[in-house]
Amino acid sequence: MKVIKTVEEMQNWSETVQLRGETVGLVPTMGYFHQGHLGLMETAKAMCDHLVVSLFVNPTQFGENEDLDAYPMDLDRDFKLAEEKGASVVFAPQREEIYPAGFQTSVALASLPLHLCGLNRPVHFGGVATVVTKLFNIVRPEVAVFGAKDFQQLQVIRQLVKDLNFNIRIVGNPIVREADGLAMSSRNVYLSPGERASGLSLSRSLELAEGLIKEGEKDAAILRAKVTDLILGFDHTAIDYVTLCDPETLADVDHVTGPVLVALAVKVGTTRLIDNRVIDPAQ
Ligand code: PAJ
Repeated sequence: MKVIKTVEEMQNWSETVQLRGETVGLVPTMGYFHQGHLGLMETAKAMCDHLVVSLFVNPTQFGENEDLDAYPMDLDRDFKLAEEKGASVVFAPQREEIYPAGFQTSVALASLPLHLCGLNRPVHFGGVATVVTKLFNIVRPEVAVFGAKDFQQLQVIRQLVKDLNFNIRIVGNPIVREADGLAMSSRNVYLSPGERASGLSLSRSLELAEGLIKEGEKDAAILRAKVTDLILGFDHTAIDYVTLCDPETLADVDHVTGPVLVALAVKVGTTRLIDNRVIDPAQ
C-alpha cells in the first residue's frame, strides 16, 4: 500500500492505473477509523480494482468553535487498518496541499444545507462540498462510498455529482453501530462513561419513533415530542434538533404519509452526536 501526500502524485497514480483499464473506488475520510469506515472500504474494494482511502481533516467544514484542533488522529493505526482492508493507496495530504495560499473557490448548494445540521453548522456543507469536489478531481474515482450515518452529507454529495456532472457512482452504506446501538463515530472517544451511557438515547429514540409510526402515529409534532422526552430523560443531554423530514429534499413534514427520515443531533456533555433512520409506515 502506498501513502501518497501530494496532489500531483495522486493524480499521476490514478491516471496510470486507469490507462491500464483498472477501476478506482474512493472512500473519503477524516481518519481515526472505526468499523463504519472499514465497512465503506469493504464496499469500495468489492466494486473496484483499487481502493483509495483519503484521510484529511478538512478545516473548511469546521466552524470556529468546533473541534478541528482536537479532532482525534492516529495515522499509523489508520494506515495499518486501510492496508488490512486491501487499500492500494491512502491519500493523506497536508492542509497546504489542499488549500495552498491564495485558494479562493468554494462549492455551495442552495437548499440542502438549509436543513438539519446546516442550521447550526452554517459553513459545514460548503466545506464538505468543496473538499469532496477536489478529492473527486484529484483521485478521479469511478465509485465513491459514503455512510448513511451522515445522511444529509450523502444527499449533498449525490446532488453535487448530479449538478456538476461528475461521472462517479455514489454508493451509500448503512450505519454501523456498537452492539448496544450507539452509531459508531470517531467522536465517541470524547464521551466519559456516563456520557457514553447517555449516547444510547439517540438509537433508543429512533426505535421508539419507528414503533410509534408503525402503530399508526402520523403527527410529526407528537412524534417529535415523544422522542424529545426520551432523549432528555437521559443525563447530560441537550437537543440540537429532532426532525422528521422528507428523505430526498430534507424539508420538514407535519404528517407522516410515506417514508420519513427521523434525524437527530444531540449534545451529550460537550460532544455532538448524530443519528437517523428512514422509517416507512407501510413496511
Ligand atoms: P468522517 O467523519 O471521517 O466519515 C467518513 C465516512 O464514514 C463518511 O461517509 C461517514 O458517513 C462514514 N461513517 C462514519 N461513521 C459511520 C457509521 N457509524 N456507519 C457508516 N458509515 C459511517 O464524513 C466525513 O469524514 C467528511 O465529512 C468527509 C466526507 C471525509 C469530507 O471531509
